[in-house]
Amino acid sequence: MKLVIAAAILSSVIALDDGLARTPPMGWMSWERFLCNVDCKTYPDSCISEDLYKRTADLMASEGYLEAGYDHVNIDDCWSTFERDPVTNEQVADPDRFPSGIKSLARYVHNRGLKLGLYSDIGTKTCGGYLGMQDNLELDANTFASWDIDMLKVDGCFQDTDMMGQTYPELSRALNATGRPIVYSCSWPAYLDPDYGEANGGEVLKELAEICHLWRNWDDIRDDWGSVSSVIDFWKRNSTDDPFIQVAGPGHWNDPDQLMIGDNGLSHSEERSQFALWAIFAAPLIMSNDLAHISKESKEILLNKEIIAVDQDPAGHQGTLVWSSEGSGDGDYYGGETRVWSRLLNDGSYAVVLQNTHSMGTATKVKLKSSMLEGWGRRRVKFTARDLYAHEDLGEFEGEMVAEVWPSDVEMFIVELV
Ligand SMILES: *[C@@H]1O[C@H](CO)[C@@H](O)[C@H](O)[C@H]1NC(C)=O
Ligand SMILES: *[C@@H]1O[C@H](CO)[C@@H](O)[C@H](O)[C@H]1NC(C)=O
Repeated sequence: MKLVIAAAILSSVIALDDGLARTPPMGWMSWERFLCNVDCKTYPDSCISEDLYKRTADLMASEGYLEAGYDHVNIDDCWSTFERDPVTNEQVADPDRFPSGIKSLARYVHNRGLKLGLYSDIGTKTCGGYLGMQDNLELDANTFASWDIDMLKVDGCFQDTDMMGQTYPELSRALNATGRPIVYSCSWPAYLDPDYGEANGGEVLKELAEICHLWRNWDDIRDDWGSVSSVIDFWKRNSTDDPFIQVAGPGHWNDPDQLMIGDNGLSHSEERSQFALWAIFAAPLIMSNDLAHISKESKEILLNKEIIAVDQDPAGHQGTLVWSSEGSGDGDYYGGETRVWSRLLNDGSYAVVLQNTHSMGTATKVKLKSSMLEGWGRRRVKFTARDLYAHEDLGEFEGEMVAEVWPSDVEMFIVELV
């Protein structure tokens, strides 16, 4: 049964109308795992070099990641030299670590059916101290386009935040003028006061949607559950009218940062939680791991096609928190809560995540009530549920269903009215 749910129809966000990033971008990025390691003598397998991106591209194509939708290989900081070309003033890739150059790397990646992302900074230098784009936005946009890149992440170190309202849009126009479709990822909001979303009626957020395909909202993610949880807590936004939730949609996405799945810091439960919730958030799914050394369990999470389909749902509604035990006294003593998250999908069904944030104890029963889902009404309605981790249909329920959820873990379902 299909429903038209008034509250879920987005207000008029004006957005880039260039056909790019109609669903949240997917892929891999070097930053969290490989940082700015430029010492290829000591670390030949993990330094920032063309070999790292080639090897990753090969694995993405051969190990099923590309087939599952992960189609970007993204270079992050520390790929360039410290000085521009003295004759052309163009940016240059480090000749020792990228001897074939970025254009040749793009060809290598394209030949495997993948796309290449590059990184730069709107300021005078990148966060790692490499070449920034300030005062050269048009030149650099043209150089990067001539190298055939497909995505550009633009960081915000070494620039006064007051200038960014001018420079980020200017770069958006410069990228468009190159004629090459390039997905534009803006770090602008991550440099603003955390209240920027609500300030001036959400003006910055609306502007972001007009000029960027995705933007980072919050702190850099790290390979530990405290960091990942703090990002999840930022998204405990419980209204579809919230300016942050409203502004997400096809062509323009909130970016809660990279997936830590397949790294060292998260338990299996925590990895399941991050993946399920990133799908609820309609988040870009950008891994940052070593695909040559990844456990079978982590790989299975990353390749869960049913959860990827939720993330990539064409309607592009970002989901929200719909219920939490916070303040109910229920389990508060143990420093955690149980939560219900939901995301409306294109066909009128909902993706639902039941989360247990306690870090001690045993599995807790968490209840989904049909009345928690916007548009399903206050009365008890009949619905079906499918478990997206077990890949199992669970049958029919009336009014509510209950699942046992382990500490630091989630269960994820698709529920549909019958
Ligand atoms: C440039 O912007 C126009 C207007 O939004 C759009 O139609 C076109 O596809 C864009 N071109 C590129 C290369 O992004
Ligand atoms: C939703 O947000 C409101 C306002 O901040 C708060 O009072 C309410 O408790 C929240 N509900 C949930 C389910 O977290």
